[in-house]
Amino acid sequence: MSALAGVRWGSATAAYQVEGAVDEGGRTPSIWDTFTARPGAIPRGDSGEIAARIYHHPAVLLDAVAWLGLDTYRLSVAWTRMVTGPDGRPNPEGIAYYRRVLQGLRDRGVTPVVTLYHWDLPQWLQDAGGWANLATADAFAEFAALAVGELGDLVSEWITVNEPFCAAFHGHLSGLHAPGLHDEATALRAALVQLHAHGEAVRAVRRLAPTARVGVSLNLSDLEAATDNPADLAATRVADLVENRLFLDPALRGRLPDDTVGYFGADVVEAALRGVDVTRIAEPLDFLGVNYYEHNLVRASRVGNDLVVRGIEKLPVPEPRSGNGVAVNPAGFTRVLLRVAALEPELPIWVTENGIGLWDYLGPDARCNDVERIAYLDQYLAALATARDQGARVEAYFHWSLMDTFEWSYGYQLRYGLFYVDFPTGRLLPKQSAHHYRRLIAGQRAGGPPADGSTMDISSAGLSAGA
Ligand code: FCB
Repeated sequence: MSALAGVRWGSATAAYQVEGAVDEGGRTPSIWDTFTARPGAIPRGDSGEIAARIYHHPAVLLDAVAWLGLDTYRLSVAWTRMVTGPDGRPNPEGIAYYRRVLQGLRDRGVTPVVTLYHWDLPQWLQDAGGWANLATADAFAEFAALAVGELGDLVSEWITVNEPFCAAFHGHLSGLHAPGLHDEATALRAALVQLHAHGEAVRAVRRLAPTARVGVSLNLSDLEAATDNPADLAATRVADLVENRLFLDPALRGRLPDDTVGYFGADVVEAALRGVDVTRIAEPLDFLGVNYYEHNLVRASRVGNDLVVRGIEKLPVPEPRSGNGVAVNPAGFTRVLLRVAALEPELPIWVTENGIGLWDYLGPDARCNDVERIAYLDQYLAALATARDQGARVEAYFHWSLMDTFEWSYGYQLRYGLFYVDFPTGRLLPKQSAHHYRRLIAGQRAGGPPADGSTMDISSAGLSAGA
């Protein structure tokens, strides 16, 4: 694995997915509180109300991070905890909470990477139009400045926006995510306003923290035409427009892809661009965050089964698949990394998310033997090594996720964690994949791997050592 030398090893979570305590510490409601309260929005009525209880027990997270031996940890700060409300004043309790977590990471020698927007828009901003309203981008730039002012002594690496594709198209077209709308024009508008907000936030961070490193996390999919017939090739290009180029081109080139108007229509694009100067989105970045999950086989379809892209169908993929049917296709990961490298050979790539959702459970021996995740890690890190060998400047890898979380439209059943969370009690248990990742990280460092089955101190934090 020499091709992995120098990679910074990390893992990640996001505020709403793990914190719980949604009514505490001066937090105001976000669009995810509203959305999850809607009957039928999420299976079993799951929500982030309690989640993994990290707001009350941050030491659990910190101990898990330290036990793994991570170099770096990616978390998001909830806008709804950081400010008191529409007046945008800092909320001392929320800020104190994040300062505790960030200081805890630093004390353990772990470099925090903070995402400013991981989908939990304050409800008061949604009430004023949310991401369809350009004023939300201004509010976001102010929030970014506030975050740097309050946390900048502990944080020097920032991610502006996480997966604007999902927030735009699943939030405003498929309706799978908050705010749960179904309108393509609004989805495009939400995409462009988020990108505009990203540019504004980069400028705000640079102004206040000139030496900080700033990037954005885009979820990029690897799309393959099911056949080479022209209709399927065209369908694949359309999927690539909506899922990839609509974000890559503004962020890296300051322009919309040429086929944007052809697909969405001139009037829709014109309305979506109101007040947005695309050239100003392409602020120079210190890294591009790539979240990689999806490989899809695409074909043209008159009916279509895709929830977001008209006129296309994504074919069921052969095994192996994740619990929710996503292809395990490490070659797609290599392709996506090399694609970014070809676009911007000098720009460092941070894989800010990668992982597999499984219906994990504890066996009779009270262990979670997630062999599929172990195989996934090995294959995807080999794919990452291949991309590096071929010139991709991948500098960091954050496995999604540290622990099981409130997994958005899937609720609590689909698990991505290296640590199993027993949600009724909040106890954490390292899955076999956590042991594996821990050994792998140690093996990359000088001292070599720790002895098998080495234990963690579980006394204070409610962690359970497991295997
Ligand atoms: C990404 C999200 C992250 C997590 C993973 C599985 O789209 O950014 O919060 O839900 O998917």
